[in-house]
Amino acid sequence: MKAVVLQEINQTVSIQEVETPQAGAGEVIVQLKAAALNHRDVFVQQGKYPGIKLPVILGSDGAGIVLEVGEGVSEEWLGKEVIVNPSQNWGADDRFYSKNFKILGMPDNGTFAEYLKVEAKYLTPKPSHLSFEAAAALPLGGVTAWRALMSRAAMKAGDRVLVTGIGGGVALLVLQFAVAAGAEVWVTSGSDEKIAKAVELGAKGGVNYKDPNWAKNLIAATGGDRSGYFEVIIDSAGGPGFAKLIDVATAGASICFFGGTTGNITDIIPGKVFFKQLNIYGSTMGTEAEFADMVRFIEEKQIQPVIDEIVPLEDAEAALRRMDSGTQFGKIVLKIG
Ligand SMILES: NC(=O)c1ccc[n+]([C@@H]2O[C@H](COP(=O)([O-])OP(=O)(O)OC[C@H]3O[C@@H](n4cnc5c(N)ncnc54)[C@H](OP(=O)(O)O)[C@@H]3O)[C@@H](O)[C@H]2O)c1
Repeated sequence: MKAVVLQEINQTVSIQEVETPQAGAGEVIVQLKAAALNHRDVFVQQGKYPGIKLPVILGSDGAGIVLEVGEGVSEEWLGKEVIVNPSQNWGADDRFYSKNFKILGMPDNGTFAEYLKVEAKYLTPKPSHLSFEAAAALPLGGVTAWRALMSRAAMKAGDRVLVTGIGGGVALLVLQFAVAAGAEVWVTSGSDEKIAKAVELGAKGGVNYKDPNWAKNLIAATGGDRSGYFEVIIDSAGGPGFAKLIDVATAGASICFFGGTTGNITDIIPGKVFFKQLNIYGSTMGTEAEFADMVRFIEEKQIQPVIDEIVPLEDAEAALRRMDSGTQFGKIVLKIG
């Protein structure tokens, strides 16, 4: 089969002819129709991820058709249109994953290929309102967004929610989930154009984080006061800007972050956190139940993930560079076959 293989750290990926996998006990083979990029794929390529094993077929997000079932797997799966849960071996404790936890696409071969071998328990029927390309845009970002917003920060209808760096794949899904669940949502971005697009998706407004006064500008735009405005803040940038999230949070707010795109968090004044009784959470991926809840919500609300562009599998390297540049708004999808 054709697959996008990373052979060495800091090297370009290449399309290679590799052995087509076969389903073992409990496994299936999915003929992939579409895959999508996550920043994780870029980080793996750059060696910025623990425990990298090479060579590897990148890709955590995929959707396709079940072609083969292994021993012990119901034949009813054959021919079904599916999406794949990339959050695997979570284990019994909802609070934290087991030591065997892994994310599809390293160390196991991922979705940038014509065929994928995966345990049948990670299949979910593709929501019928989504194309393969839209369905592929969902899994990793969707489960990360869902756990951060709904389980960890426990957003409720009517909450005032801030989502930072709205051009990000996960951030956009947080925005869509929060709007659909009845929140008042504001965003930040390094691009005024992306803020305008977020408003089209239901955000009330936003500010550009490149302006050093962005936090003050944001509070002014919301009509809030110096004590803050947001009950829920979802961030993946971390870095020095995180301290300002404390300023715009209202008393008793929950701040949840799942990434550190801009580096270490610095200069947090402890008193601002404890006098405001803030809750600060870290979050990563999600449980199987959270994945199922997320897909149900997408179906119920008929949400369409935002796609920046769809390119052929052969253009995976260019797609990775585009993701690295941060110019995209929404998911970059690879069409397969
Ligand atoms: N823990 C987990 O389970 C998990 C899961 C998925 C992702 N992540 C992490 O979360 C981060 C985002 O992942 P992704 O796949 O959504 O990446 P992505 O699509 O490449 O998004 C990155 C976004 O970061 C934003 N950004 C850059 N500088 C910023 C700043 N100073 N302040 C606020 N936002 C800033 C940009 O937003 P604008 O374009 O709007 O400026 C950019 O679009 C990565 O660090 C990734 O590793 C973690």
